[in-house]
Amino acid sequence: MSTALGYWTFGGAEVQEFFERPDPVPGPHEVLIRVEAAGVNPLDHHLRSGHVLELNGELPFPQVLGMEAAGTIITVGADVTGLAAGDRVTGFALTGAGTYAGTTLLLGASTARIPDALPATWAATIPVASTTALDVLDQVALPDGASLLINGIGGGVGLALAQLARNRGLAVIGTASSAKRDLVAATGAKFVDYASTDAIAQLQALAPHGFDAVVDAVGGDSLRAVADLAKTPETLVSVGDPSVTDLGGVTVHRRLDRKVLERVADLMASGQLDPNITATYPLRRADEALALVESRHASGKLVIDMTL
Ligand SMILES: NC(=O)c1ccc[n+]([C@@H]2O[C@H](COP(=O)([O-])OP(=O)(O)OC[C@H]3O[C@@H](n4cnc5c(N)ncnc54)[C@H](OP(=O)(O)O)[C@@H]3O)[C@@H](O)[C@H]2O)c1
Repeated sequence: MSTALGYWTFGGAEVQEFFERPDPVPGPHEVLIRVEAAGVNPLDHHLRSGHVLELNGELPFPQVLGMEAAGTIITVGADVTGLAAGDRVTGFALTGAGTYAGTTLLLGASTARIPDALPATWAATIPVASTTALDVLDQVALPDGASLLINGIGGGVGLALAQLARNRGLAVIGTASSAKRDLVAATGAKFVDYASTDAIAQLQALAPHGFDAVVDAVGGDSLRAVADLAKTPETLVSVGDPSVTDLGGVTVHRRLDRKVLERVADLMASGQLDPNITATYPLRRADEALALVESRHASGKLVIDMTL
């Protein structure tokens, strides 16, 4: 048995409840882990709110919050290869099994071993935000010295992308609110306050012929405001808003495999990527962490640390 934060119906934060659940039993392609840390992501509240019913509309209740975790394998499903009980891993949870819980199920093909030196709190942030950053960077495949605008640089995806892009020699510019100026500057990126009345003019002045790529992590009107700043529509990529295709752009192609998790784990362990964890929470305060992410103005990554 372990404590979990989940819901019996779709809705706002009021539908969330802590409860005790038996350890789930892994199917042939899954692993059961003892969760050491779990990342908090916008997808968690979107799933709870019923905004992405194609992902969880048919799943039984209660569904548990959270899609990414690091921990130690307890049991390995019969068809999972390359993993064993006792391994320290990070990975994507089975949707509905959740990660705001003491134990959970990860998908074997989307789970990777982590270096001994990597803390569980860091490793827990790899599957969702950091691998999205690596996926989108590989997708735009810009040459050394090219310019990249990150719309919404101050969140989990944006700050990871800024560091990875800097390491590849790209000139990075990012939009965020003024509270995130220092966080953004620490990545080496140029900061533009999106609340400035002349924000778009400032961006145009930084790249008079347009940016070689624009990666959007905000969506909606904010995406539309920056869309024309990409040199060509095909180099406009959104990680969260599928309506980018209406503008001629594309969505990020996610890989979700073990290899991309291992690559990001190595980048973290070798000091090339800091997940920018701005706060850790005990499981009993996981609802506060999710509320901050749901406010759409969290900084960097928020992580639930089971040792707290
Ligand atoms: N496709 C995928 O697999 C995938 C994976 C991860 C994330 N996503 C999506 O990508 C998006 C970002 O995820 P995340 O994890 O980075 O979220 P996050 O950590 O919650 O960060 C969101 C950031 O957006 C910023 N923001 C809000 N309004 C803004 C605006 N008008 N202009 C510029 N920045 C603004 C906020 O900073 P300020 O306080 O500065 O406003 C905040 O730091 C979400 O929509 C998420 O669902 C998709």
